[in-house]
Amino acid sequence: MTIASEAHERALIIDFGSQVTQLIARRLRESGVYCEVHPFNRVDGDFLKSYNPKAIVLSGGPSSVTDKGSPRAPQAVFDLGVPILGICYGQQTMMEQLGGKVETGESGEFGRAFIQPVAKTPLFDGMFDVAPADGEEVWMSHGDHVAKMAPGFEVLATSPGAPYAVIGDKSRHFYGTQFHPEVVHTPRGEQMLRNFTHGIAGMKGDWTMQAFREEAIAKVRAQVGDGKVICGLSGGVDSSVVAVLLHEAIGDQLTCVFVDTGMMRKGEADEVVSLFKEHYNMNLVHVDAGDEFLDLLDGVDDPEKKRKIIGGTFIDIFEREAKAVGGAKFLAQGTLYPDVIESVSFDGGPSVTIKSHHNVGGLPERMDMDLVEPLRELFKDEVRALGRELGLNDTFVGRHPFPGPGLAIRCPGLITRDKLDALREADAIYLDEIKKAGLYNVIWQAFAAILPVKTVGVMGDSRTYERVLALRAVTSTDGMTADYYHFNHEFLGRTATRIINEVKGINRVVYDITSKPPGTIEWE
Ligand code: XMP
Repeated sequence: MTIASEAHERALIIDFGSQVTQLIARRLRESGVYCEVHPFNRVDGDFLKSYNPKAIVLSGGPSSVTDKGSPRAPQAVFDLGVPILGICYGQQTMMEQLGGKVETGESGEFGRAFIQPVAKTPLFDGMFDVAPADGEEVWMSHGDHVAKMAPGFEVLATSPGAPYAVIGDKSRHFYGTQFHPEVVHTPRGEQMLRNFTHGIAGMKGDWTMQAFREEAIAKVRAQVGDGKVICGLSGGVDSSVVAVLLHEAIGDQLTCVFVDTGMMRKGEADEVVSLFKEHYNMNLVHVDAGDEFLDLLDGVDDPEKKRKIIGGTFIDIFEREAKAVGGAKFLAQGTLYPDVIESVSFDGGPSVTIKSHHNVGGLPERMDMDLVEPLRELFKDEVRALGRELGLNDTFVGRHPFPGPGLAIRCPGLITRDKLDALREADAIYLDEIKKAGLYNVIWQAFAAILPVKTVGVMGDSRTYERVLALRAVTSTDGMTADYYHFNHEFLGRTATRIINEVKGINRVVYDITSKPPGTIEWE
């Protein structure tokens, strides 16, 4: 399905299954070029006609062009007369399909490599007035390489492991790079991509957040007319941005439902209610459902059971409240682009469920409502930019992710009110110290978990026997992989002391130094 706004020129990224395909889209969008990612086997002549791309990028991928049955770009792509950039596998399949040859090398190139430009090309515009003495740093990851170029192509740069590191056909405007310009490890890759879209394909780069905001508002108005919309508001970035955008678009036709599960962080419910109800003057239903959730969770210690109970109860409550609003035809959701992109699956096998994530995904089927998903085209950082564009303050826009099941999954073992109270206090102190140290925005996510273990301590002259608190902080770009944050010991010592002194029921603090994988970010 095509979701792009018709008003802008668009580039098309054809995906062959690389781990970093989404980064191509992000880089292009950062330079103002609207683009979408579509799997190679879903692109045909009709699609190309309706999508009408001004430039096409063929992504990398895990297959080998030399294998029978490996993916190919649809022939129509090469007949369109539009500039094409093939990256890694994309370059190789382009060569194979246009009459060149690819072979598997004795050794590949993985990681940092240096290319040497050997000819002038608009792809390198503004980059090499003088050719770099040691070569230009790029990031390679390939076992195969082009062994013979297709007719019409010339070599533009070489590297020790890839004689055809950059190639181009000036007359057709087809280019290929063996390396990955989309990753940060290719320092000037962004400029090369920009040279391709703006210079070679002549795109204007006019896709801005301001333009997106205006179009999104117009689209929502056109979709809902004078109908009523309800929106689950959690106080997280995505749902907050959806709420503010919709409120700007349709005002009182929108009702937000905020379900307080009793497992929110300290002060969170008040913050959400005061911003959205008082500041924005939105229709906001505040459901104080703490007792309902905690009663259902009584005696439950299995992480998956907790998640199922919370997800199911959330949906029950939301459905109830939506009925009470009366006559809403539309349900607004903060679905983002990474959830929309169809992934390329070669084996078609189901992936293992690590955790059943809680969101309102099951709602639409049950409630027979039409979906309003104004963030479907955006990446997370673009949602943040849109939030800023809409005037949302940094407390909401820059907020660390918070899972739907809330503190329940930071409370391994049985969930009790006193554990939750201690956890809320300790978590608030930890975040306060992080903010004071100026680290909040460099950390992807930080939180505390209260462990189902008691240990012996001594405070004053007395023995204590209290709970252990674990602190977690990670860096990440998308939550899929993560590394633990390297605090200095003074910070950890200071924070631990404050927590033990100020929070009743905790006498020991530990720091979690597990990356993801093998750990997950949350403890359950
Ligand atoms: P894990 O623990 O799977 O978490 O490494 C990755 C990211 O997802 C968040 N998370 C959730 N978010 N509903 C959500 O909306 C959930 O059920 C859920 N579980 C984990 C987690 O906080 C981290 O940012």
